Amino acid sequence: AALPADDGAAAATAAPAAPAARRLTVLYGTDTGNSREVAGQVAAAATAQGVPAEVADMADYKTRLLKDEQDLVVIAATHGEGDPPPSAIGFFEFLAGRKAPKLPDVRFAVLALGDSTYEHYCSAGKQLDARLEELGASRLADRVDCDVDYEDDAEAWIADVVARLVPDEPPAGAAAAVPAGGAPSVDGAASSNGAVAHGKKHPFAAPLLENVVLTGRGSSKETRHVELSLEGSGLTYEPGDALGVVPQNDPQLVEALLDRLALSGDATVPTKQGDRPLREALTHAYEITAGTPRFIEQWATLSGAGELEALRDGDAKARFDYLHEHHVLDIVERFPVPGLDAAQLLAGLRPLQPRLYSIASSLAAAPDEAHLTVSTVRFELHGRPRTGVASGHLARIGDAEDLDVPVYVQANEHFRLPADDVPIIMVGAGTGVAPYRAFLQEREARGAEGRNWLVFGERNFRSDFLYQVEWQQLLKDGVLTRLDPAFSRDATPKTYVQDRLRQAGRDVWAWLEDGARIYVCGDATNMAPDVDATLAEIVAEHGGKGEDDAREYLSALKREHRYLLDVY
Ligand code: 2AM
Repeated sequence: AALPADDGAAAATAAPAAPAARRLTVLYGTDTGNSREVAGQVAAAATAQGVPAEVADMADYKTRLLKDEQDLVVIAATHGEGDPPPSAIGFFEFLAGRKAPKLPDVRFAVLALGDSTYEHYCSAGKQLDARLEELGASRLADRVDCDVDYEDDAEAWIADVVARLVPDEPPAGAAAAVPAGGAPSVDGAASSNGAVAHGKKHPFAAPLLENVVLTGRGSSKETRHVELSLEGSGLTYEPGDALGVVPQNDPQLVEALLDRLALSGDATVPTKQGDRPLREALTHAYEITAGTPRFIEQWATLSGAGELEALRDGDAKARFDYLHEHHVLDIVERFPVPGLDAAQLLAGLRPLQPRLYSIASSLAAAPDEAHLTVSTVRFELHGRPRTGVASGHLARIGDAEDLDVPVYVQANEHFRLPADDVPIIMVGAGTGVAPYRAFLQEREARGAEGRNWLVFGERNFRSDFLYQVEWQQLLKDGVLTRLDPAFSRDATPKTYVQDRLRQAGRDVWAWLEDGARIYVCGDATNMAPDVDATLAEIVAEHGGKGEDDAREYLSALKREHRYLLDVY
């Protein structure tokens, strides 16, 4: 505040003005929770340096606050083919739109999270970074793009950004404002009784209770129901949450790699978890199915192969097409590197990542258990059968006894049940039905009064009606109000979940007008956009709206958290 003009004496004796403290907001857009965790780390690091921070989720952020922000650190995950996380779409649309404010007084820094096996790597973060600059904000630090093993890169970036946030002289009173709690991460944090809490870095070895094939004879798919025990783990979850599963690579693939590379599986190699035999490292610690651009780069250097050098230096699209067609094994087979050292191989590989599965059970119905619905990914490449890493692992172990699967709980706050009296429409294709089993178990256990409508899609009625008996029991018990299955391969033309919705359009509209929430779970590439387009048609037709108003109706549902997606 300005001093009164006539108070010359006081002004003369006052200490030099302390630099004004700027407000820091850490804004995140998350899908699996990683961005939220990183945002918490930024806030904790800043607060520890005397820079208090507010953490905000793009899903709930009031966009009218944006123009008054001062320092803005943005942590943005990318989803699917370069899209923002579903919960952050509203924020992205606002920022991209004409109503976005000019931001000349804002300083910003963006950390982008992504997966380098995708062509549109970190693209959501890249968009935000460019757009904030376009709106006149000034860049506090260069954007960093972090791969799935983001922890170290994020940590270094946070330290750099926080150093830039700290004013040269701390504003009075802001000195040792160390937060009591720190980052909201539970990974490996010691709890009050000294036990280690189970998280991504310290998964719990969950005994396998059941592992059965749900799909029937003659199915074109293999979908499993897997039950794991969480007893004694201290792990809990809510319906809608996911389970992180730490998989093991296929031993046959490990042996094939060792063989092609002429490396001994017994040789000791250094890994993050300490020295261990190469065979074990390839089984437990590295991704050895699909490669990444880093692998192309490494193998181009090692082999000197012109074809790989061209891919390395060429356009991204060609590189990704190649990586889809050629896994690590195919590349090392084609371009031999005589005298290869194990460390040179590992330098091109990414750390093995856990896979997330929507939990298909409720603790209210299955105490101390987590159930999963897992479709085994099987395909052929260059005449050789391949499997998905985690689904293949679960399929290989079958219902073997005395087996543990390392797991942790990944909260999914953007996909939760509403209050008990709110009606819900659940749209799920394939394994996308998993969270709805959890929802219905929970609602039954709670005696929730809200109506429940399930729209389920799969290929064939005979072999693929996942959990059919359970749904029928729930219908009989009055928990499930309505069930509309869509079997795509029983007849032509194909019937998909969106066709069922369209046929029931009048009721969908009535439920929505009654305050229903609508959930969509399953395929992100085709199903979710097709369902979205159908919902817009339904709202237009039965709500008597034009196309724009129908779109706006759906946008409002999203803003009110009444239209929720869990798609992959
Ligand atoms: P399809 O494989 O016969 O095309 C689960 O995989 C179910 O989702 C299957 O019935 C599958 O049908 C269906 N599916 C595929 N593409 C879809 C889309 N764009 N919209 C809705 N369902 C789709």
